[in-house]
Amino acid sequence: MYQLVFATNNAHKLEEVAAKIEGRIQLLSLNDINCHDDIAETGTTFRENASIKSHYIYNKYRINCFGDDSGLEIDALNGEPGVYSAHYAGEHGNHAANMAKVLEKLSSEINRTARFRTVISLVWDGEEHFFEGTVEGTIRHELSGTAGFGYDPIFQPDGYNITFAEMTLAEKNQISHRAIAVEKLIEFLKKV
Ligand code: IMP
Repeated sequence: MYQLVFATNNAHKLEEVAAKIEGRIQLLSLNDINCHDDIAETGTTFRENASIKSHYIYNKYRINCFGDDSGLEIDALNGEPGVYSAHYAGEHGNHAANMAKVLEKLSSEINRTARFRTVISLVWDGEEHFFEGTVEGTIRHELSGTAGFGYDPIFQPDGYNITFAEMTLAEKNQISHRAIAVEKLIEFLKKV
């Protein structure tokens, strides 16, 4: 049995991955390995932040580990909010303020194309592997829907006329950036 740590404190993310992982691999949380450190996300790219998390755990505990980082990239804002998605308006996790800031900045903008991106960094036996997922879409002019979290109420994925926040969790999980990146990770793990 292999052990693999997911460097996250987000129970929902952990559950999502745990449900997809095969029996040969035991998925552990930071809690499971008694790690309560605050791992500072000081990178300027998703890759760097994901890598900081996976290496921190691997270097300290010598257990195979992966970390992820994700966010929203808006073309007309040169990729903002990007790695600053969680605290774009200042306060960490204030999604209403973050969305208000985006809508304000885009108020007279015609180009509303954007994407969600997730990058996973896996350190497996000392070697790093990256897995990436993106979902393209557009930014609505107003909020719509109450499901999900973060920027979901203003993000409409291409091919749909509803936002992420108007989808069920199951629907979103089929097409989301995170689901795509996790799928690639799972494929890799099947071969180890
Ligand atoms: P994390 O790295 O997955 O924790 O995401 C960082 C931030 O990006 C979150 O706080 C959200 O603001 C935004 N974000 C990431 N994924 C999503 C998503 O699926 N829907 C909406 N917002 C997201």
